[in-house]
Amino acid sequence: MSAGLQFTDSGWHTKKGNLYETNSISKQESSARMIRTKIKSALSASQSGETIKVCGWVRTRRDSKSGFSFVELNDGSCMANLQVVIDQSVPDYEAMIKDVTTGASVAINGKVHESPGKNQRIELHAESFHVYGTADPETYPLQKKRHSFEFLREIAHLRPRTNTFGAITRVRNEAATSIHRFFQSRGFVYIQTPIITTSDCEGAGEMFQVTTLDLKRLAQVQTEIDFSQDFFGKPASLTVSGQLEAEIFATSIGECYTFGPTFRAENSNTSRHLAEFWMVEPEMPFYDLEDNMALAESFVRTVVGDVLENCSEDMEFFNKRIDKTTLETLRNITDNEFIRISYTEAIKIIKASGKKFDFPIEWGSDMQSEHERFLTEEHFKQPVIVYGYPRTIKPFYMRCNDDGKTVCAMDVLVPGVGEIIGGSQREERYDVLVDRMKEGGLNPDEYWWYTDLRKYGTVPHSGFGLGFERLIQLITSMTNIRDCIPFPRTPKNAEF
Ligand code: 4AD
Repeated sequence: MSAGLQFTDSGWHTKKGNLYETNSISKQESSARMIRTKIKSALSASQSGETIKVCGWVRTRRDSKSGFSFVELNDGSCMANLQVVIDQSVPDYEAMIKDVTTGASVAINGKVHESPGKNQRIELHAESFHVYGTADPETYPLQKKRHSFEFLREIAHLRPRTNTFGAITRVRNEAATSIHRFFQSRGFVYIQTPIITTSDCEGAGEMFQVTTLDLKRLAQVQTEIDFSQDFFGKPASLTVSGQLEAEIFATSIGECYTFGPTFRAENSNTSRHLAEFWMVEPEMPFYDLEDNMALAESFVRTVVGDVLENCSEDMEFFNKRIDKTTLETLRNITDNEFIRISYTEAIKIIKASGKKFDFPIEWGSDMQSEHERFLTEEHFKQPVIVYGYPRTIKPFYMRCNDDGKTVCAMDVLVPGVGEIIGGSQREERYDVLVDRMKEGGLNPDEYWWYTDLRKYGTVPHSGFGLGFERLIQLITSMTNIRDCIPFPRTPKNAEF
């Protein structure tokens, strides 16, 4: 792990000792005040004879003929359930046990015993229990059977209680923590860039408009819209990227990064597009394209490695239940260098493959997901960084190469997903940048603050953007990106 930081149930530790104490409760304290023990920590650390209190949601209950019940309890802290035995001699057993059904929330005080079962080290023998909230078995949607991911998307308020979505949530958390650790340990500064913006970073016009104008009334009168009357006095939108603002800080404070929500109104109903997704965007002064690619590679390999190390139980689950090649693919990423090829070489390889693609490709056209996946999954069987794309298919901010045809762009392609990172060396020459804006139909006056960075102390600089949910797709092998974010936003879908 990068910064010598380690998380245990008793908090964050450095190699030298505790950094923070988040969850550190001594055993004596715990039994005196009956503080809740998380199931993760009970399963790993509680010893036979200890009295503990656990709380959570019932996964299953089985009643034995000889007068006791087995309850599988989960509190989200880990994949495994804690097995609890509730004997009929426990107070109120007869009156309350019927309410201990799948989905009900309970608190249980009891004594830890070594478990006779093979699959668990300990079990809890209840001494008292309390039902916080019942869950009617007739209507509770999550029964003990496999549900399709499509169905689970319709109950996004309950799906985090399943094994798969519990695991995805914990992996997302570890990946986010690892991302911050990666940059912080390298001296990058975390910058918060605006969500509401009046400029289109990608120049693609795929933005959600933000307005307080009364659209109903405007539709009735059907006049030209006067944006001077709108909240910001001009058209405003949700940001598609924090890059332009990150460049301001890269050229003042130094290496920095953003990690925030981004919005794209592209109408693509695919398994790798969201209308709202989280993007990580580092921006570095004095970095050329080579430096940028090296950082991107190290970044992906480190974060994947951290998740493998710190979420091993969840990763075993993905490997067993979602895709049996998950761990092998990820170890291949952490253990080997990425392939680097130019766009021109990539097109040659794709064309020479003789494979039939839905979209034929020629030099000058954008690669589709099928081409990207062919390169990384079939041809190289490894992550690939493609650089030097045609200038006509890339945004205005990418630095033009001397050949006049290509730009200093790079995309990182990974198995199962395709493009996970897009980045470039930035165009730092004022005149070239302004020409590129005009070429793309943008008005340079509207980007005056951005072009100013090239007027006053311009420097070579680079950056990239990683789609956080695509990273989660890669790590978990989930085939649909809608399952890699708690509440997906896609065309015609913004429930929850
Ligand atoms: O390649 P993109 O469009 O690059 C940018 O936005 C640059 N401003 C980044 C930069 O240089 N700072 O997007 C970057 C990444 C993609 O590689 C992809 O992983 C992800 O963002 N992405 C999406 N993820 C989910 N849904 C979408 N609709 C996405 N569009 C892009």
